Amino acid sequence: MAKEKLVEVKNLKQHFKVGGGRVVKAVDDVSFDIYKGEVFGLVGESGSGKSTTGRSIIRLYDITGGEVKFDGQVISGKIKGDLKRTLTREIQMIFQDPYACLNPRMKVVDIIAEGLDIHKLAKNKQERLEKVYKILEIVGLTPDHANRFPHEFSGGQRQRIGIARALITQPKFIIADEPISALDVSIQAQVVNLMQKLQKEFGLTYLFIAHDLSMVKYISDRVGVMYHGKLVELADADELYAHPLHPYTKSLLSAIPEPDPIYERNRQRIPYTADVHDYSQEGPEWVEIRPGHFIRANKAELVAYEKQLADKK
Ligand SMILES: Nc1ncnc2c1ncn2[C@@H]1O[C@H](COP(=O)(O)OP(=O)(O)O)[C@@H](O)[C@H]1O
Ligand SMILES: [Mg+2]
Repeated sequence: MAKEKLVEVKNLKQHFKVGGGRVVKAVDDVSFDIYKGEVFGLVGESGSGKSTTGRSIIRLYDITGGEVKFDGQVISGKIKGDLKRTLTREIQMIFQDPYACLNPRMKVVDIIAEGLDIHKLAKNKQERLEKVYKILEIVGLTPDHANRFPHEFSGGQRQRIGIARALITQPKFIIADEPISALDVSIQAQVVNLMQKLQKEFGLTYLFIAHDLSMVKYISDRVGVMYHGKLVELADADELYAHPLHPYTKSLLSAIPEPDPIYERNRQRIPYTADVHDYSQEGPEWVEIRPGHFIRANKAELVAYEKQLADKK
């Protein structure tokens, strides 16, 4: 059965004009699809353009170039008001620091119900409250949390509130921008497990953004690796871990701690420091080197990557 595409990002560019006539190419010619019901992990170091990619998809910027489709419809550029409203219901975001985006003066019930209010999804006060109670339970909180304020919660609980707020409009697609990076390591797995459970239960599709591969490994079906505004590699998660090709991907993989202390002691971190300008002068292209395994490479690199794959067989 052919997988259906939910999100199609084609040649996306997001360039920012900064001081002195300089331009930051935050996202530069990035293309990828996200299939319905999948978790697409997007990884890369801080500043590589991950958030900008997510924010461009959700229309927080006027994109510089390219196109974004959602459920077969173009959603970038000028679109109708009806579609805009539909998108604010069907696409939701979860952020790194839930505290920064939860209004401290609002009670949890009103924070969570905001989407219901905006889209008039509750017939009356009673139904509004029932929906909030239900979603609180779904994310592992209780109805008596509804009347409290954000500062009364721990980091992990606040992220659960952020998740509840995102889920209340019954979205199809969730962009989770480093949802666990600000949490204690002990809490990270809990939130990832919850997100995974919700994804299965509600048939959600995720763009899951992270700066390292450690958690993305567990949650993602496919992973894209970003470096300096470009995708450098994209493959099924298993394929990427078994046969990483790009030196930057290898470097990210080498940074994941090993659970076994003996392996951990011997783990070697592979640094990656490319001269970005040299790199772009070589004219690398985005090539499908194996079915579903994409790599950004010039001709000479491609030959070397082919050899690596052949040697592993
Ligand atoms: N609104 C903006 N104006 C100017 N530059 C920006 C803006 N947003 C992001 N950038 C720059 O774009 C690059 C990518 O940023 P970002 O997408 O936030 O990276 P990431 O999420 O991977 O850490 C960075 O160099 C950042 O400084
Ligand atoms: Mg970011």
